Amino acid sequence: MTQPISFLNAGRASSAGSAQVCAEPCVLVIFGASGDLTKRLLLPAFYNLACDGLLPEQFAIVGLAMDEFTTESFREKMSNEIKQFSTRKEFNAKTWDWLCSRLYYTQGKFDDIAAFARLAELVSKLDIQYQARGNVLFYMATPPSVFGLISGNLEKAGFKTSSAGWKRIIVEKPFGNDLPSAIALNREILKYWTEDQIYRIDHYLGKETVQNIIAFRFSNGMFEPLWNRNFIDHIQFSVAEAVGVEGRGAYYDRSGVLRDMLQNHMFQMLAYLCMEPPSSFAPEAVRNEKSKVLEAMRIMDASGVRANTVRGQYGPGRGPDGKPVPGYREEPSVPAQSTTETFAAVKLFIDNWRWLGVPIYLRSGKRLWKRGTEIVVQLKSPPDVVFRGTTVESLEPNRLIFHIQPDQGIELRFQAKTPGPSMSLQNVNMRFDYSQAFTASRAIGYEVLIYNCMNGDATLFSRTDLVETAWRVAQPILDVWKNEPADLPNYAAGTWGPKAAFELMERDGRKWIEILNRETLQKVPLFETADSVLLASLIMALKPVVFQPDDLVIRQGEIGREMYLISRGKVDVTDGSGKALATLGEGDFFGEASLLTSAPRNATVRAQSYCDFFALDKSDFKRVLRDHPQFLESLMEIARTRYNVSAEEVSSEED
Ligand code: NDP
Ligand code: BG6
Repeated sequence: MTQPISFLNAGRASSAGSAQVCAEPCVLVIFGASGDLTKRLLLPAFYNLACDGLLPEQFAIVGLAMDEFTTESFREKMSNEIKQFSTRKEFNAKTWDWLCSRLYYTQGKFDDIAAFARLAELVSKLDIQYQARGNVLFYMATPPSVFGLISGNLEKAGFKTSSAGWKRIIVEKPFGNDLPSAIALNREILKYWTEDQIYRIDHYLGKETVQNIIAFRFSNGMFEPLWNRNFIDHIQFSVAEAVGVEGRGAYYDRSGVLRDMLQNHMFQMLAYLCMEPPSSFAPEAVRNEKSKVLEAMRIMDASGVRANTVRGQYGPGRGPDGKPVPGYREEPSVPAQSTTETFAAVKLFIDNWRWLGVPIYLRSGKRLWKRGTEIVVQLKSPPDVVFRGTTVESLEPNRLIFHIQPDQGIELRFQAKTPGPSMSLQNVNMRFDYSQAFTASRAIGYEVLIYNCMNGDATLFSRTDLVETAWRVAQPILDVWKNEPADLPNYAAGTWGPKAAFELMERDGRKWIEILNRETLQKVPLFETADSVLLASLIMALKPVVFQPDDLVIRQGEIGREMYLISRGKVDVTDGSGKALATLGEGDFFGEASLLTSAPRNATVRAQSYCDFFALDKSDFKRVLRDHPQFLESLMEIARTRYNVSAEEVSSEED
């Protein structure tokens, strides 16, 4: 076997324009080749690899499934599908023809030993034809329940005993449905294969921005000295999806977001962010460090689960285009009383020397207000004594933000003095954007995984112990959730998720950092015409808050500390006697009068439905008004008509 190429080298071979290194020769067999995974993800990945010159001449693909295709009709199907699912801007017919001519199909059921005998015959014929050196890669694009069956039949068909070349299998998620089933599945597969032949896919590890977490950590000296409990206050991981279950209701209802996203993709990112430096980027060195950090994760008891986890399920609401979408229980193949969670927020701890006592918050959900994967590393706040006697009321902590997708980059948020004679501060940022620094990659993530597997580099794949350790952490949560029903659904599709997830953070005096962008803010009528400086300042200052129907948002007579902009939902405004004054909806704002005048709240506001607001607190409000007089003017205009607030009242407060 040739020496494995490190995954970091592999990535550079194509992107930096240096000499390209083709993957090792092989015949690649896809079990389940007529399925969704093959057409949507695998085929485009093979095509991208071919376009980047990373597939060798000595290469062929054999598809096997129940469907009655011939090689010709399979090629025809794939030729149609690649046009639909290719991620490249332009279609390269020559490259596709090259790849298509290497596609073969053999029909059969996984329990039919004769089908495996036919497969063996075809593979050995192609091995000679393409000089694949006896190397065979088996891709299990099938439900896990048949991994053992397929492996056993491969053994019976003589694949294991054929001496020449390597034999490897790629195994798709879900790798088990809980700890016992994961252990059983591992045992089953290990009956037929050795650990170094098994490549368990987690497609998040194929993402450039995820791989960059360790590249960033270990190639820059700047942050590593701070990367521990002495300097870091907490870490938060958010994986928000705007889509629902996308026709996968039957699968999803047996899974839920804890199994579908947290136990695998999010724990993998967590391991990269929190592991110790490996001795090298050799596969086992990296995987050993990941294993150690996952082993140090605290396993919660039932009371810990109750205190530190939140689950949610979406009800009817709106999709990203604003059109109505059904609730989870109305999705195809989902039972009408399903208690499966489509949202989860979890607080975890890593009980090792580096991280003891640093909370790690994870949240993920379907049908949220936007798609976005972000990791926020929040440093401890500096002492604010130096600023006594200035207008600075409190210091914001520094935050290092990894934008994983769709926004790709790294951002450091810190404070700077606002220009002017007095000492006042504003949150600002420094940003690195992938799209500006590099030629954008068209990869979907599977390319690097397949490529590395063909080269025998297992760095980006999970190992038996890693999978089982991750399940050990997730299992108590699954157990408590199974035994203790929750009141679901508890968030509307298209919103920021259940209120309880925000409370999980607020109880600790912390908050989720929502990554806002200009487009989101410009949808709010008040900011439609805001200039870029005002928008940049608001992006840092606005914080999302969530209310449930009937929640009290503002009580008449209280001193105002923040104003609110309604992103989703409706509120009722009443006076002290309960008389209705107004109903406000999306794009409206409220709570500004009390901040303008410092007088007590002059009305009560209650949520009529699930509501998502942006809140702007008093100190940021004042700063924004001072720096952006045109914003003050727009607010004054409204305050004048709503509450008769005069300019004099405002200016006396400002003084
Ligand atoms: P599909 O149900 O679309 O495809 C399954 C494939 O397996 C079909 O080709 C099917 O053939 C074949 N198959 C199933 N049982 C047999 C059998 N007994 N004998 C022969 N062929 C059989 O599933 P997906 O492609 O969506 O998923 C495959 C795996 O990948 C699953 O483990 C899934 O969890 C995982 N995955 C999928 C993702 C996706 O986006 N689709 C994303 C990440 C992981 P036929 O069509 O003839 O029935
Ligand atoms: C898959 C999950 O593993 O990851 C899906 O099964 C989810 O439910 C998907 O939508 C998310 O992947 P990505 O790359 O779009 O973030």
